[in-house]
Amino acid sequence: MKFPATLLVLVSIGATTLAAFPQTSEIPSSCIGTDSVVLQISNFTTSTGDILRVEHKACSAATITNSGHSKRQTVVDACVLDESFTFRCFATGAIGPTAADCNNLNAAIIETFEAAGDLDLFSVANGTVATFRLGTCAYAWVNQNPTDTLEFCFSETTGFLGPELINGCIVNGDTAGVATPSGAGIPANILEWSFEIVRAT
Ligand SMILES: *[C@@H]1O[C@H](CO)[C@@H](O)[C@H](O)[C@H]1NC(C)=O
Ligand SMILES: *[C@@H]1O[C@H](CO)[C@@H](O)[C@H](O)[C@H]1NC(C)=O
Repeated sequence: MKFPATLLVLVSIGATTLAAFPQTSEIPSSCIGTDSVVLQISNFTTSTGDILRVEHKACSAATITNSGHSKRQTVVDACVLDESFTFRCFATGAIGPTAADCNNLNAAIIETFEAAGDLDLFSVANGTVATFRLGTCAYAWVNQNPTDTLEFCFSETTGFLGPELINGCIVNGDTAGVATPSGAGIPANILEWSFEIVRAT
């Protein structure tokens, strides 16, 4: 499994600050709202009989119209070293996912996509979201770059971002968690994404 050494440092720092994630009441634009348009759905059955559902959605119908005019897209690897992350928890008054489903989701992604020989990266076109869902829990990886397809690594999702938000937000009874990247010296275009844990609808 590919796991950048610098991230291991961040994991240990993050582990000491889990309870300190700030909490606010409004989830920012999550791109998984009602005006999103399904582009592709794939279901995978796990060894425990759960269904892992992977969806690619356009954030709005306009995204599809626009992409019809686009030339060949630039594809950028956004799984970079030396990123740091801002984690936020949300308590919207709605019901959140269960921590058990989120932990099963994390395990299902590892089982399905991180076997020996699997690709390290998944890609998400600009203006779209990739969601991974199991039961009540959904991971959503939103590409907010205006022009480029971004690629991201499964190992950072399941080895770091997912567990941080599950333990820092969902286990505490929050209804959602969001991670956004930053990093001095890292080009802004590969930081234009967010990773969210929300209730699967
Ligand atoms: C995937 O599974 C869901 C139920 O979880 C079902 O509604 C949907 O039709 C399935 N889609 C495909 C493409 O198999
Ligand atoms: C995605 O990027 C292409 C250029 O690569 C652009 O033409 C298109 O408008 C963009 N779509 C959105 C929704 O931003």
